[in-house]
Amino acid sequence: MDFDDVIRARRSVRRFTEDRVDADTLCKLIEAGVQAPSACNLQGWRFRVLGEEEQRRMVGLGAASVVERAPLAVVVLYPRSSDAYHDEIQSAAACIQNMLLKATELGLGGCWVCHLPAKWRLRRLLAIPFHYDISACVVFGYPQHEPRPVPRRSTYQELFELERPRVTWRAVAKFLYVRQPFRPAFIERRFTRRFEN
Ligand SMILES: Cc1cc2nc3c(=O)[nH]c(=O)nc-3n(C[C@H](O)[C@H](O)[C@H](O)COP(=O)(O)O)c2cc1C
Repeated sequence: MDFDDVIRARRSVRRFTEDRVDADTLCKLIEAGVQAPSACNLQGWRFRVLGEEEQRRMVGLGAASVVERAPLAVVVLYPRSSDAYHDEIQSAAACIQNMLLKATELGLGGCWVCHLPAKWRLRRLLAIPFHYDISACVVFGYPQHEPRPVPRRSTYQELFELERPRVTWRAVAKFLYVRQPFRPAFIERRFTRRFEN
């Protein structure tokens, strides 16, 4: 696949076949991830591959159900930083995107997941030391179907214009929901958005 094909073919995939992702493939994903730029060239990313029981327990604590369905789930960590532009988040995000693009090239599907339990609960479950921030969970597997295209919304012109802030009920509900520690799995099942892929 050439570069443009990979960029365009990458979709968030949430339905996988039963096939496992082998260790060699995992290494390729990580190798692509660590080629990302990082603030001050810190290369602070760390990866925590989850076991099946951990995946199940994470969903029990309120993570998106795709975390349990995926053959491979990796939590990406990065050392905390006091930078005003959250350079640790940006560095980890660059790494995650590289992994997702590599997954596409390898014929895998992947999904970046931030619908996760309250951070302190996840930290306790996975025994993550406090000096690491939990960036996201990234899941991988072989797609059940060819993912459908997800059109981009803005016109080229709009991408250079700023919008007015919009306060919606959904935004208020989310603000409150993510600030309370309990994320019952039934909320994930009933109220989170259903995606086509
Ligand atoms: C920071 C971030 C967090 C995301 N969290 C979730 C998530 O918790 N659950 C999920 O199903 N998809 C999640 N996604 C994937 C988006 O839903 C997806 O990128 C979007 O719907 C566009 O689809 P595409 O990736 O196929 O272009 C996340 C993406 C990003 C960048």
